[in-house]
Amino acid sequence: MKFFVDTADVAAIKELNDLGMVDGVTTNPSLIMKSGRDILEVTKEICDIVSGPVSAEVVATDAKDMIEEGLKLAKIAPNIAIKVPLTWDGLTACKAFASEGHMVNVTLCFSVSQAILAAKAGATFISPFIGRLDDINLDGMQLIDDIRTVYDNYDYKTEILAASIRSTNHIAECGRIGADVITAPPAVIKSMVKHPLTDQGLAQFMADWAKTGQKIV
Ligand code: E4P
Repeated sequence: MKFFVDTADVAAIKELNDLGMVDGVTTNPSLIMKSGRDILEVTKEICDIVSGPVSAEVVATDAKDMIEEGLKLAKIAPNIAIKVPLTWDGLTACKAFASEGHMVNVTLCFSVSQAILAAKAGATFISPFIGRLDDINLDGMQLIDDIRTVYDNYDYKTEILAASIRSTNHIAECGRIGADVITAPPAVIKSMVKHPLTDQGLAQFMADWAKTGQKIV
């Protein structure tokens, strides 16, 4: 299971990358806004840290302008995955980028039908949004499961990049279903380490160790 980190916070990316936890990065216009940084500068900095795919999103809404923006973003580094929205124009741009050998992440996917179109347009990654479906009382995880089934039925090579992840349970369930990649905020990835029985067990070991009066070093 590959871990992408869903942020434009360079310090957070570096911390997780140093631990070998980062296989790639996803950004979007909201995350760039949150970083307060220039998109070209911060994306370059991220690409200098992470060797895996770094998604940078176009903001134009028509295919021609998306292609112009995407080609500019792709010049930042060889590991850029151009991120386009799941619209007809986005799919048109996806096809153009894929034909030229660029990685493409098709984002804002909320249905199996949309995921099929992205695969047929040559997407490297499809990003179904789990949390935003859950937010409106639909089943985000079921979408991951359904896309996995359909992609496997037809041996589509597009990787399922489970996005809009809000909890460690989302990540564990994506692993069970077989999503190729998850992208999650740094805080969610770091919270995977937590378990109350680990804390409780460690406290007990420390208390018993203190009673021995011993030292290891
Ligand atoms: C990733 O590519 C998406 O932009 C991101 O996961 C969206 O997450 P959110 O729904 O928590 O904003």
